[in-house]
Amino acid sequence: MKAVTVLFRTCMILGCIMLFTQPGLAAKKKSKQADKDPHTIVTKEANTIDELVEMLDEKKCGSCHPKIYREWERSWHAKSVVSPGSLKGVHNFIAIGLPKEWNKPLTKAELLKCLDCHAPIANYASEELAVKIGNMIVTAHKEKDNPAGKKAKKALEKLNVGCVSCHNLKAISVARGLRGDPKKGAIYGPTGANSGGAHKTIQTVDITRSVFCMQCHGKYTAPDGETIQCNTLSGSFQNAYQNNGGTETCQDCHMEKSGKSGRKSHLFPGGHDLDMVKKGLGLKVNFAQYRHLPGKIKGVKNDKAWVPSAVVTAFVENKAGHRIPDG
Ligand code: HEC
Ligand code: HEC
Ligand code: HEC
Ligand code: HEC
Ligand code: HEC
Repeated sequence: MKAVTVLFRTCMILGCIMLFTQPGLAAKKKSKQADKDPHTIVTKEANTIDELVEMLDEKKCGSCHPKIYREWERSWHAKSVVSPGSLKGVHNFIAIGLPKEWNKPLTKAELLKCLDCHAPIANYASEELAVKIGNMIVTAHKEKDNPAGKKAKKALEKLNVGCVSCHNLKAISVARGLRGDPKKGAIYGPTGANSGGAHKTIQTVDITRSVFCMQCHGKYTAPDGETIQCNTLSGSFQNAYQNNGGTETCQDCHMEKSGKSGRKSHLFPGGHDLDMVKKGLGLKVNFAQYRHLPGKIKGVKNDKAWVPSAVVTAFVENKAGHRIPDG
């Protein structure tokens, strides 16, 4: 009897201790988690390009996802502002289009008509910083052989379609009406895998679907209703591929699993990758042999002889999920 009472008392005491300590512990745990989230993604308005990049730096992600980081680094997504084509195009928009064609000042809203796809993290730039980025793009292209242009390009290299662009900013925006805005600081992924406290992970099926890619690789409607289109790829994917029974997604063809890990590759090969281009082309050749009638072809030495000839018919088949080339 006595033993039971002692046990009971111990339980009471322990219970009390637990009651008092539990909320404290929970609060402590929570603040630790909150400390860690900003470590990976900070989401406030940035006033300098360094501040902007520091907030959403892919290198931070690379410390725990090194293989994916190395693949991404080699992809065209990693140079989506400074690639020669894009830099020139956005320069023309800012230096010629806005002032000369449309008579509009350079503002963040105008710049986002390009950078919302070419560098979505520009959404976190202050108005002043956005204008500064626009001017840097002009300098980087116009003065590409001078130190000023090189310096501007070096800074702009850090703007791209990075991890956070896809895994937060654009992750669920294909169904904004249904899902709302992405949660600040969270990482959206295909499985919602537990990151052990590194970041809050939220599962979404959206990122595994073609529409996720099509929001950038297709027609774009800016908040003011203006439409922009860099490429017609999504249109032909829908109309010429899906409507004819094509079942593969953009991810199936462009993120083919790599290595033993079975993880989806982040190299995103496309028109700049010879192996990928070969995959897209099917070649069928018909070969018909015959002889020309003698005396019918001018310039042949012996005009009495038969002239061996051939007709070669080549069928080039497009095996990609859309028209090629594009852009
Ligand atoms: C809907 C998202 C989106 C918007 C908005 C957008 N782009 Fe693009 N842009 C892309 C994508 C995706 C590609 C790559 C196309 C490809 O490789 O098939 C691209 C490619 C380009 C290229 C060709 C690059 C090369 O290497 O050949 C230029 C130039 C370009 N964009 C300029 C602009 C300009 C200027 C604006 C703003 C007026 C703009 N883009 C707005 C998504 C967009
Ligand atoms: C252009 C968009 C895009 C960019 C940029 C991008 N990802 Fe992804 N990532 C995806 C998509 C899409 C998937 C899911 C593919 C699927 O399962 O269909 C994915 C999957 C993943 C996964 C889960 C992989 C697996 O197979 O379990 C991890 C981890 C990941 N990404 C990390 C990163 C990191 C780190 C970066 C930056 C270095 C990055 N991603 C950049 C689009 C992107
Ligand atoms: C301290 C280590 C650490 C850092 C830093 C980190 N992650 Fe992760 N992340 C993990 C772990 C652990 C997992 C779960 C196992 C896995 O999928 O690799 C994970 C999972 C993921 C997934 C897969 C989620 C899913 O639904 O399958 C994505 C996407 C991802 N991380 C993106 C990022 C991005 C983007 C960054 C940078 C902003 C980042 N991670 C920074 C450790 C980290
Ligand atoms: C945030 C916008 C964005 C998203 C989302 C996005 N892309 Fe891109 N992607 C771009 C831009 C911009 C470029 C062009 C970079 C350049 O050439 O300067 C590009 C380039 C590419 C290229 C290289 C094209 C070439 O010419 O070699 C491929 C392939 C590609 N993307 C596939 C995908 C796939 C597949 C998805 C979906 C899983 C996807 N992208 C999601 C913006 C995006
Ligand atoms: C059935 C496989 C397949 C599907 C599905 C597919 N692609 Fe492609 N894609 C290819 C191949 C192969 C190429 C290389 C052919 C070439 O550029 O000559 C390519 C090229 C590209 C390029 C480079 C275009 C250029 O002109 O250089 C981009 C960007 C791209 N794809 C994006 C996408 C997006 C976005 C989707 C989904 C809407 C998609 N692809 C669906 C196979 C596919």
